[in-house]
Amino acid sequence: MLYTSPLIYLTPLAAFLGPLISASPLNSRAEPPKAADPPIVDNNGVIKVYWHVITANDTLEGGHLPLETMRHQIEMLNRNYEGSGFSFVLHDHGYYQNKDWFHNNDPQGTLVDSLQRSQLITPLEKERGTNVKNPSDMNIWSINDPNPNFGGEGAFPSAIIDETVGITMDVDYLQKDSPVLTHEVGHWMGLLHTFDMECENNGDFLSDTIAERIPTEVQQKNCEPRIGCDGKSFVPTNFMSYGGTECISEFSEQQKSLMRTNMLKIRGFKAGPIAPNTA
Ligand SMILES: *[C@@H]1O[C@H](CO)[C@@H](O)[C@H](O)[C@H]1NC(C)=O
Ligand SMILES: [Zn+2]
Repeated sequence: MLYTSPLIYLTPLAAFLGPLISASPLNSRAEPPKAADPPIVDNNGVIKVYWHVITANDTLEGGHLPLETMRHQIEMLNRNYEGSGFSFVLHDHGYYQNKDWFHNNDPQGTLVDSLQRSQLITPLEKERGTNVKNPSDMNIWSINDPNPNFGGEGAFPSAIIDETVGITMDVDYLQKDSPVLTHEVGHWMGLLHTFDMECENNGDFLSDTIAERIPTEVQQKNCEPRIGCDGKSFVPTNFMSYGGTECISEFSEQQKSLMRTNMLKIRGFKAGPIAPNTA
């Protein structure tokens, strides 16, 4: 499956270098970004999730997700992020009928990106007065993109400067065990794909993930062994690679550590206690 993440291609270095040069992220704004030194939120590593269910109508086909689906996705996040110092709680959710937004189009018929979406839709905030603009709170918008390969997109922490930017998920990829949401949350915490730099810089600047070339369309959907940059055959297992649902199942220790750094320095959110490694 393809987990499209347009923002990653726009700002991969900014996202990666953000924590290293937090005083001046590679962001082209003239004023120093407000997010450079955010007040630190210490919530024991528990991230509040706000789920904005965008619908075309009140049917499942029209995007009207049952609460159970959302709860199951949050449970999966909690399983997949075990040992990272982060956990997730579905803090609030709401249903918003808008056919154009559901099909990822704005009324003018152009594709909506998550930055626009975040600026235009903060219904939970409007209706309930909850603060969903806190950079360490996670917004999820569920929609149904016309492109069947669109799984979701997760905004890098460097893109949050003063907008609420979160995660867009296609309802087709919210089935039982799909790893797409986990993958997009990885971007939201500043992780690159394991192949973003291809065979340069370890693929993702981390030495404990397997560097690889951009997976072919066929590889994106399966668990067949492929050849890494080191010339060795491997089956993809990393959440930040692309591959079949059956094999994509882990984050590396360096990825977990980078997430903690990014969350603290960019989103101003302190990780909780790190559970002993049960691997
Ligand atoms: C609900 O919306 C979906 C997506 O646009 C559409 O395919 C379906 O026909 C709609 N169902 C009803 C009952 O309007
Ligand atoms: Zn991705």
